[in-house]
Amino acid sequence: MAVPLVGAEGFTDAQFDVVIIGAGASGLMCAIEAAKRGRKVRIIDHANKPGKKILMSGGGRCNFTNYSVEADNYLSHNPHFCKSALKRFTQWDFLSLVQRYKIAYHERLHGQLFCDDSARDILDMLLAECRRYGASISLQCAVQRIAQDAGGGFQVHTNQGKLHCQSLVVATGGLSIPKMGATPLGYRIAEQFNIKVWPTRAGLVPLTLQPHDKEVFSALTGIAVPCEVSTQNRSFRENLLFTHRGLSGPAILQISSYWQPGEALVINCLPDRDLLAELKQLRKQGSKFKVKTWLGELLPKRLLPALLSEAMLECALVDCSDKQFRQISDHIQAWHIRPNGSEGYRTAEVTIGGVDCDALSSKTMESLKVKRLYFVGEVVDVTGWLGGYNFQWAWSSGWCAGQYV
Ligand code: FDA
Repeated sequence: MAVPLVGAEGFTDAQFDVVIIGAGASGLMCAIEAAKRGRKVRIIDHANKPGKKILMSGGGRCNFTNYSVEADNYLSHNPHFCKSALKRFTQWDFLSLVQRYKIAYHERLHGQLFCDDSARDILDMLLAECRRYGASISLQCAVQRIAQDAGGGFQVHTNQGKLHCQSLVVATGGLSIPKMGATPLGYRIAEQFNIKVWPTRAGLVPLTLQPHDKEVFSALTGIAVPCEVSTQNRSFRENLLFTHRGLSGPAILQISSYWQPGEALVINCLPDRDLLAELKQLRKQGSKFKVKTWLGELLPKRLLPALLSEAMLECALVDCSDKQFRQISDHIQAWHIRPNGSEGYRTAEVTIGGVDCDALSSKTMESLKVKRLYFVGEVVDVTGWLGGYNFQWAWSSGWCAGQYV
């Protein structure tokens, strides 16, 4: 008999081999793999639909993985932890599943793979796999309490009754976008079992500006500039986007995961040019162009008065001093700006920090302390760059746990 995909029945001491909390990317992948092994699997989720973040991801087209996935694309207190899972279930493995389902996809910049049509294709594929192997899902199922059985299993008390399981998988994701159902339940479960949780913060998030800078730069809302944005230890070359709240765009989202409060960002708006040398050369040639005319060919004209003084912009290149040229190149190629903060979990794509990798087996995702308790996906202290890396971590870690639960 086919197991219902969405079970809405009340549980009266229902027995499962595996209960997975969270019907997101990692929980669904784990469920498929466990069910393939013949395990009786139930996913529970407090939301009214599974995979909500999959549906909203990648602007509705889900950037589901990347052609190039390395440990260096992830942040973690243990940068080696993710290697094993990423090697065992790779981007190619996920891609072959996508191809088996004949989902049309395309590559964008930096090897990012997106659906041609809709993120729903990815969710439908995962749900079809759950159905195929008999993993079922209970929605609007809120966890009230978790306890360990005398036999080493777990009791999960919910608003729909009590479930028993041999293995419990925590796949509750991070804290970003609370409106979509994000909660700290996974961290609380870890703490209940004395498993360390690193402090969390928003990642892949727009940055806000100090009041003065906000006043100057909000006039540029909607302008995108390809540039290189750096903190002390990382640089990203992508578009920066001015918004009415501050700075966004892929360059800022990427660097936001590395930026520390109080730190200045260094922005090079013309990363491929030796601006100082070019300016000197133009002066040597006797160029009568004004600074603003020449730079206006290279950068959005509205950006210039935000970075350079009126007097500087009006100066003819032939009349500029070395000092002025240095100031121009400093302001354009090493523009320092100190953000005020980030937009926080409300708009962040991911949560940095979480369940300590050193408390888990990198092969199975099982807690080293509490047998048969597993953590997968974003709840773990592994955070990817923008570009499909977070889903790949969810697939890889979910797949690994699915082999052992
Ligand atoms: P995920 O968040 O997917 O699932 C967690 C599940 O747990 C949810 O269904 C939730 O309802 C449930 N849950 C939470 N608390 C619960 C509770 N108390 N009780 C019961 N259930 C509970 N990544 C990427 O690689 N490419 C992309 O294109 C994007 N795009 C993107 C856009 C936006 C707007 C966001 C917010 C995020 C992305 N991401 C992304 C990140 C990606 O969505 C994210 O890293 C993965 O979904 C993480 O998968 P998980 O399974 O760990 O959590």
